[in-house]
Amino acid sequence: MSILSGKKVLLGITGGIAAYKSAYLVRLLIKAGASVKVVMTENAKDFVTPLTLSTLSKNKVYTSFTDEEENEVWNNHVDLGLWADIFVIAPATANTLSKMASGTSDNFLLATYLSAKCPVYFAPAMDLDMYQHPSTKKSFKTLQSFGNIIIPAGHGELASGLIGQGRMAEPEEIIAFIEKDIVSKLPLKGKKVLITAGPTYEAIDPVRFIGNHSSGKMGYALATTAVNLGAEVFLISGPTHLDIQHSHIKLVRITSAEEMYNAVHQVYNQVDIAILSAAVADYKPATVASQKIKKKTAVMQIDLAPTKDILASLGEIKETQFLVGFALETNNELENAKNKLSSKNLDAIVLNSLNDKGAGFGKPTNKVTFIDKNLTEVAFFLKPKQEVATDIFNEILKRLDD
Ligand code: CTP
Repeated sequence: MSILSGKKVLLGITGGIAAYKSAYLVRLLIKAGASVKVVMTENAKDFVTPLTLSTLSKNKVYTSFTDEEENEVWNNHVDLGLWADIFVIAPATANTLSKMASGTSDNFLLATYLSAKCPVYFAPAMDLDMYQHPSTKKSFKTLQSFGNIIIPAGHGELASGLIGQGRMAEPEEIIAFIEKDIVSKLPLKGKKVLITAGPTYEAIDPVRFIGNHSSGKMGYALATTAVNLGAEVFLISGPTHLDIQHSHIKLVRITSAEEMYNAVHQVYNQVDIAILSAAVADYKPATVASQKIKKKTAVMQIDLAPTKDILASLGEIKETQFLVGFALETNNELENAKNKLSSKNLDAIVLNSLNDKGAGFGKPTNKVTFIDKNLTEVAFFLKPKQEVATDIFNEILKRLDD
C-alpha cells in the first residue's frame, strides 16, 4: 500500500508544456489512494484543460478567487491550503517559483501556496538555460530554506529542441520521490514495535476453555498506527476475528497466556517500544483434562493456577525499551493504574475504566487516560479506537527520547 493512501494532495499546475503530464500525475495519485484537488494558473489552462483534471481528480478545479459562471462564489484559498496534507506544484515554472520565493501573491495558486502549512514539493520544468540561471537557482535555494522540497528536473530533450536539464521529472518519478521522502521522515522509521492484542484462551479440556470478551480491536488499531508512523511491528494476537495484512506487520497468532509469553519474549530484546494491550487470562486450569470432561450432577470445581504476568516479566528485564501496559479497572481506577505502572516498571500505562459508557471490551470506541512514569495524566474523550491509537502514539512519541 502506498504511503500516499488516504492523504489529501493538492496539485498546483503552472503554465509550462509539461502541464500535459500533470493529468497522468493526477491519475497516479488517485491510484495510490490519495484524494486530489487541483489548483492551476490561467496560463496552465493553455496546456491542459480544467475539465480533464476535474474528471480525473473527481473534484472541482480551482483557477481563480471566484468561479467564472458563479461570480458571487468566493473560492477560499486559505481553506484549500489547510485542507492539504501535501502540496505538489508540478510543473513549477521559473516565473511561479520566483513569485513563491518572493512572496508574490497575484493569483489563486500563489495565495494558496502562502496559506498552506503542509509540506510543499515543487517539480521545476523549464528550458536548460532558464534552469541554470542564477535567478532560478536563487529561487530554488530560497524555497528550500522555507522547507519546500525540490523534485529535480531530469536531463533530456526539451520543448525548445535543446538537450539539457530542465525536463519535469516523470509522473512516476514524482510519486516515487514523494513516497520515499515521506517514509524517510516518519517518526518511527527504523523502529520496531511489539504489540499484544486480543484475549487468551486457557484450555480446560480438548473442547472447552476460559476466555474473555476482548475483541483485539485496540491492539490491531495500535499496530496499524505504528506501521503508518514507519515502524516494523510484531503483533502477537490471541484468538480474534480480525485480520491484518501489511508487509511491515509480522502477525503471530497464539492461543494461551503461556504461548503469548513465549512469543513476546522471542522478540522483546529487538524492539524499541512494547505495548501490551492484550486481555491476558490471569488464571488457567491447574491441569488440562486430556479427554472431554463428562457432565455430572454434582457441583463441579476447576482448580486454577496463576498464569505468568507477561507485562511484569518485561518490566523486570527492560533495558532501552519504552514499555506500555494497559489497565482495565472498575474502581479506584487512577490509583490502581499508577500502582501497576510502578510495580511493573513501566514507562506508561493506558487506563480504561469499565465505568465509562462506550469504553473497553468489544466496543468500537474507547476512552482512555495515558499516565507516564512521572505520573502525568492525559485524559482523552470517548473516540473510535483508531483515533485512540493515534493519541497513544502521540504521547509515546513525546516521551520516546527522554
Ligand atoms: N497482563 C499480562 N500478563 C498477564 C496479565 C496481564 O501481560 N498475565 C498485562 C495486560 O496485557 C495489561 C496489563 O497487564 O497490559 C494489565 O492487565 P490487568 O488485567 O488490568 O491487570 P493485572 O496486572 O492482571 O491486575 P488485576 O487483574 O488484578 O487488575
